[in-house]
Amino acid sequence: MSSNEAISVLRSAGEARAWRATLPADAPVAFIPTMGFLHDGHLSLMAEGRRRVGPKGQVITSIFVNPTQFGPNEDFDRYPRDEAGDLAKAAAAGVDLAFCPSAPSELFPAHSRTWIEVEGLGDALCGRSRPGHFRGVCTVVAKLWGLLRPSIGLFGEKDYQQLAILRRMHADLNLCGEIIGMPIVREPDGLAMSSRNSNLDPSSREAARAIPRFLAEVRARYAAGERAAAGLLADAPARLAPGRIDYVSLVDAADLRPIDVIERPALCALAVYFGGVRLIDNALL
Ligand code: PAF
Repeated sequence: MSSNEAISVLRSAGEARAWRATLPADAPVAFIPTMGFLHDGHLSLMAEGRRRVGPKGQVITSIFVNPTQFGPNEDFDRYPRDEAGDLAKAAAAGVDLAFCPSAPSELFPAHSRTWIEVEGLGDALCGRSRPGHFRGVCTVVAKLWGLLRPSIGLFGEKDYQQLAILRRMHADLNLCGEIIGMPIVREPDGLAMSSRNSNLDPSSREAARAIPRFLAEVRARYAAGERAAAGLLADAPARLAPGRIDYVSLVDAADLRPIDVIERPALCALAVYFGGVRLIDNALL
């Protein structure tokens, strides 16, 4: 273990396991898994973790750009990274410890043969356009969870599908502790905070404001009584222009199956490219 002023840093799976073994099994431990390039959304999860475990509990984060959740033509190489900055931000947010694996092989050694796949929930939305993505997410989160054995793990609702899938995995595998979902944190102009926002050039950043505008309009149409997907999502390409739509969907909020008419809680979810950067967002209806 090394120490970056206020925060301890673990580099190997063995160190992570050994650190956890120094604590009682029922110790209050809040875990915020991240891929780094921390923003206020991550920091809100850390603050909530601290609130829940109290001053004597442990708040821990992992910073790991997980290669197994990126497809071959995706942005693994371009994913923003700033470990020193992240450690400073995490320390300032009161995080006690960061697990920053020194290499992917700490979590995915060459002999590794086990993958976790949650059936069904990954068929629509991001799962359709990013085959294998949730398999990579579930596997890395399960590995981290097994090493760190948190009493709570906190995840943002911007990745609504990820959260739903991880909740299912957590229950199905009888993992310890509890998963907590936290509301989306937005920029002042409404764009959901995301590490990928830093890859937007100024004109794409400006154009990406179309996403929160679109979702606000969907909410307004819903509030005015519209219940049909066709009406809520009508003209999406024009409303999201110049973004290139990956998907804009209305799904059941529980099982994430596409729906034509809202009769139960529903989710309007989208993924849209601006200047080559894929952004996701959603609104619960
Ligand atoms: O949401 C993320 O940042 C990642 O998918 C996660 C949960 C840290 C797994 O790599």
